[in-house]
Amino acid sequence: MREVNRQWRLAAYPKGLPRESDWTLTEAPVPVPGAGQMLVRASYLDVAPYMRGRISPQTNYAAGVAVGEVMVGGAVGEVLASNCPQFDAGDLVVTEFDFGWQDYALLTPAQVRRVDTALAPAHCWLDLLGLNGVTAYFGLAQAEMRPGDSVVISAAAGSVGQLAGQIAKIGGCRVIAITSSEAKLARCRELGYDDGIAYRIEPDLAAAVKRVCPRGVDVFFDNTAGPIHDAVVQNLALNARVTLCGTVSLAARFGEADIGPRFLRQIMIARARVQGFLVFDYAPRYDEARARLAAWYGDGRIRLHYDIADGLASQPRAFLRLLGSENLGKQLVRNDAPAGA
Ligand SMILES: NC(=O)c1ccc[n+]([C@@H]2O[C@H](COP(=O)([O-])OP(=O)(O)OC[C@H]3O[C@@H](n4cnc5c(N)ncnc54)[C@H](OP(=O)(O)O)[C@@H]3O)[C@@H](O)[C@H]2O)c1
Repeated sequence: MREVNRQWRLAAYPKGLPRESDWTLTEAPVPVPGAGQMLVRASYLDVAPYMRGRISPQTNYAAGVAVGEVMVGGAVGEVLASNCPQFDAGDLVVTEFDFGWQDYALLTPAQVRRVDTALAPAHCWLDLLGLNGVTAYFGLAQAEMRPGDSVVISAAAGSVGQLAGQIAKIGGCRVIAITSSEAKLARCRELGYDDGIAYRIEPDLAAAVKRVCPRGVDVFFDNTAGPIHDAVVQNLALNARVTLCGTVSLAARFGEADIGPRFLRQIMIARARVQGFLVFDYAPRYDEARARLAAWYGDGRIRLHYDIADGLASQPRAFLRLLGSENLGKQLVRNDAPAGA
């Protein structure tokens, strides 16, 4: 084990798109577990768009990171020392938010779930069997997805997107990807998407949605908001359902008014339902979703792409990759702190 714990601390609230200089890498002694605590070394650190909302003074659905604090984040890691009867050194655990961008953390049993690599490899517990799997599952359920529906998914090649696309295929839908590039569309097709749009090369995005969904969009799983949302809303089918899951396209304008065209007549004419989605509302049913996700993964019906950066030093850069559409699949960081005690 290293003698120091490297930690990324927030240096300043970003103005516009975050930059690497918004965090500083500091060092602290490796902490010693007290009663009821365990010392955990991160194996894989999470990287996710929600982190943008946590480094803003704006009101959010969860508490933010103050300047000077260790950056928020989840991780899957190995217990190095334990003062908890439920966990022993060598066990693998996952925590969604309570690890932080650092090599080692002290955690309690209430903050972690046990990782069972018989169900899926350790890194899959930060997406498939973490929160993004249940987000994809319940985001589609909230939209009352039915066999035969045309389902459009934005950020389709990303972590939530690749899961939602495959779940919608399993559900008997025609599934359409919206993503930034042809390369990402090719990945989506490999995963079973029926068609798609590379939004950066389309001169008229609304016309492109009409081209791939000539009979309209029944379900829109919106991970981005912004101009993609505006283009899809102009193509809603009768009784369409929109799950507003994420607003990643607003990352550069976080906290500002989201001013764009309004398409309220299209929503009225389609008798469409546009509903916000927060995965935490489904917490009592996470186990149900995770059991199905693990089974689909186990029988090969769900496959996943990962984009894994090396070393804790790359954590801010890996986060900026997401906001720049550079990640191909679920973005993670593999920790390079020594494992041995
Ligand atoms: N509501 C909830 O409970 C909940 C839970 C989990 C996640 N989420 C949301 O789900 C969404 C996806 O999260 P994820 O972890 O799966 O991330 P991800 O999709 O793996 O990565 C983010 C993706 O966002 C897209 N993007 C970035 N800037 C964009 C822009 N300006 N316009 C359009 N697309 C842009 C990029 O894909 P392209 O290459 O396609 O541009 C990028 O790959 C996020 O909005 C996240 O906040 C919501």
